[in-house]
Amino acid sequence: MFIKPVSSLKGELRIPGDKSISHRSVMFGAIAEGITEVTHFLQGADCLSTISCFRKLGIEIENTPQKITIYGKGLHGLSAPDGILDAGNSGTTTRLISGILAGQPFTSTLTGDASIQKRPMKRIIAPLREMGADITSLSGNDCAPLKISSAPLHGIHYQSPVASAQVKSCLLLAGLYADAPVSVTEPALSRNHTELMLASFGANVTSEQTTATIQPTPRLYGQRIDVPGDISSAAYFLAAGLLLPGSELLIRNVGINPTRDGIIRVAKAMQGNVTELNARIVSGEPVCDLLVRSSELHGTEIGGSLIPALIDEIPAIAVMAAYANGTTVIKDAAELKVKESNRIDTIVTNLRAMGADITATEDGMVINGGRPLHHAVIDSHMDHRIAMAFSIAALRAEGGADIRDAKAVSISYPAFYQDLSSLEA
Ligand code: S3P
Repeated sequence: MFIKPVSSLKGELRIPGDKSISHRSVMFGAIAEGITEVTHFLQGADCLSTISCFRKLGIEIENTPQKITIYGKGLHGLSAPDGILDAGNSGTTTRLISGILAGQPFTSTLTGDASIQKRPMKRIIAPLREMGADITSLSGNDCAPLKISSAPLHGIHYQSPVASAQVKSCLLLAGLYADAPVSVTEPALSRNHTELMLASFGANVTSEQTTATIQPTPRLYGQRIDVPGDISSAAYFLAAGLLLPGSELLIRNVGINPTRDGIIRVAKAMQGNVTELNARIVSGEPVCDLLVRSSELHGTEIGGSLIPALIDEIPAIAVMAAYANGTTVIKDAAELKVKESNRIDTIVTNLRAMGADITATEDGMVINGGRPLHHAVIDSHMDHRIAMAFSIAALRAEGGADIRDAKAVSISYPAFYQDLSSLEA
């Protein structure tokens, strides 16, 4: 898709629902008793993969434009799937559902697309086995397809080597079926949507600093959930509003959970004009409207415990850094290599093709910003976040850019290009 340069963006938009929260609403609703109703559910391909997996596990789910209704069958109500469960492109589906499947009295096989079949699953296989789970990688290389069979689960205290909400959530969900508490300590706090939402469904979950603990839980109860807008999707418009001269955008209803809001902190550190308005709580999650005005950005340093709070926004942040004055250093972000694409490679190669001064490092990148960028053919590697971040880079580049496999945006933001054109001043 060709993206032409634009002079500025103006107006208001409501971005789609949060991907992480949408996945969890279906999963927890399926294993709760009674009905769970979800509004502003993200109708992206990843979340639809979660719905299709739970339908295969015997759960009735109605999906209408107004709301999703999940007819939960309780912790022990899932039935053996007829056929292989397909998680598509979704790491969240694959890793979280594995925790639930480990506690079931039947065997399931779970796989996904070419990208999923390359992503590391040892990070869940090893601790699930420590709990007693019967889980094997059918490919023999610790990737999907995964075969998960019935086995009694025990409590553990797991010291996770990575700050990963997918690993933490997988183990907490398996903990629902264990005979003793399960606790997970991470090197830095990852997004805590599972802890917040599972507690609202009636689980006994507690958090202390970087440790989350779940007690054996007899039952969960269906809930009503209004999904906040996804800050990871807002990130592209935040970047565009800051980068394009004369822009002013009001991005409504953005989730600003402190485990997710790193991009706002970084935008402010880069001297971006970002204001949080109308702060409020929606379904237990902090939300606001973000007012963004074009700004002269400056380089910054990003690392340490801030990384998990902005890991999915690094493609957008790298684009901001390429247009900023001075140097931006991103470190402690080796996890970028195991996302939907190797995002250190895909960011560095594509920004360099547009004329940026950028160098890959072992755990991040160094960007000497301020060079004018120009047209290039961008290979998204079917990674939705690369497609969207480089569409934003194109808006200010001489000659725009051509984005290969721009359709990947359907993973998390099907209406991305419509929303973008609605804001062109
Ligand atoms: C997610 C956790 C993060 C994030 C992913 C969604 C989740 O992955 O990158 O897009 O919903 O739990 P990791 O847990 O691998 O860091």
